[in-house]
Amino acid sequence: MPASSVPILKLPGGGCVPRLGQGTWRMGESARRRAEEVAALKLGLDLGMTLIDTAEMYGGGEAERIVAEAIEGRRDEVFIVSKVLPQNASRTGTVAACERSLKRLNTDRLDLYLLHWRGRYPLKETLAGFQSLLRDGLIRAWGMSNFDAGDMEELAALSGGDTVATNQVLYNLARRGIEADLIPWCRARAIPIMAYSPVEQGRIVRDRTLARVAARHGAAPAQVALAWLLRHEDMMVIPKATNGAHVRENRAALDLALSPADLAELDNAFPAPRGTRPLEML
Ligand SMILES: NC(=O)c1ccc[n+]([C@@H]2O[C@H](COP(=O)([O-])OP(=O)(O)OC[C@H]3O[C@@H](n4cnc5c(N)ncnc54)[C@H](OP(=O)(O)O)[C@@H]3O)[C@@H](O)[C@H]2O)c1
Repeated sequence: MPASSVPILKLPGGGCVPRLGQGTWRMGESARRRAEEVAALKLGLDLGMTLIDTAEMYGGGEAERIVAEAIEGRRDEVFIVSKVLPQNASRTGTVAACERSLKRLNTDRLDLYLLHWRGRYPLKETLAGFQSLLRDGLIRAWGMSNFDAGDMEELAALSGGDTVATNQVLYNLARRGIEADLIPWCRARAIPIMAYSPVEQGRIVRDRTLARVAARHGAAPAQVALAWLLRHEDMMVIPKATNGAHVRENRAALDLALSPADLAELDNAFPAPRGTRPLEML
């Protein structure tokens, strides 16, 4: 068993989320890998990574069906996040998309529902859809994804816009742009960030500095990348893994404490941004 328990973060509107969860992008795309994907999610749940992030987009809805299979009989243990596609995010379209997701997930509510990225519908419309879902108990909280500081500012100015629970964005050692503006903006308003692609879709594990820091701790490079993010108590981190060894490794990142010397070495190899940059997304 891992030494630590998974730390919990309190969302602004109430509700508790484990800070280390599991992603599902690219799941549900191949029938051959389905059993492995379900098993990986179940293993992650057993290890306490009970936040599962999915979306109507992933596998054309098939990822949500895989989540349904993985959480069967244990819905109350799990914090489910799903996302509405921008092209569905009108007021009524948001409600209809959520209902479809609930059906695929075989559940009666989402713990958190996000707008996947900004599209053509005015934010006011999507917000009205979220508010209607909240009133009907179909979602417990709502948030945004891939919003830059300007988008967040615009949202906050809308009536009810300040009840946003999170902004899910690309953030890892190799993608530090949000440190210049979005992180300070969210911190000033106590809005937690959910960091996606935390191991840069697997690419970052080949980095030499990461390997050196990891070796000092007898850890794996991915654990260093995750520990670097997890040291922020106001962030949630959602690595995706279908390989069981990766799932275990990711969970054990919570037991890795990076030293000031480690952090300085990582800063040197992956410098913080010097000024603001456009938000990156995958
Ligand atoms: N809102 C958005 O627009 C958005 C965009 C991207 C992602 N997301 C969410 O964030 C989640 C995570 O991001 P992501 O899937 O893009 O990338 P990621 O979690 O950074 O990387 C996933 C890849 O890394 C590999 N991996 C995982 N753990 C590893 C480890 N310990 N050692 C070596 N390789 C490891 C996985 O391999 P195996 O699968 O073979 O284990 C997989 O190929 C997504 O699944 C999705 O839920 C949201």
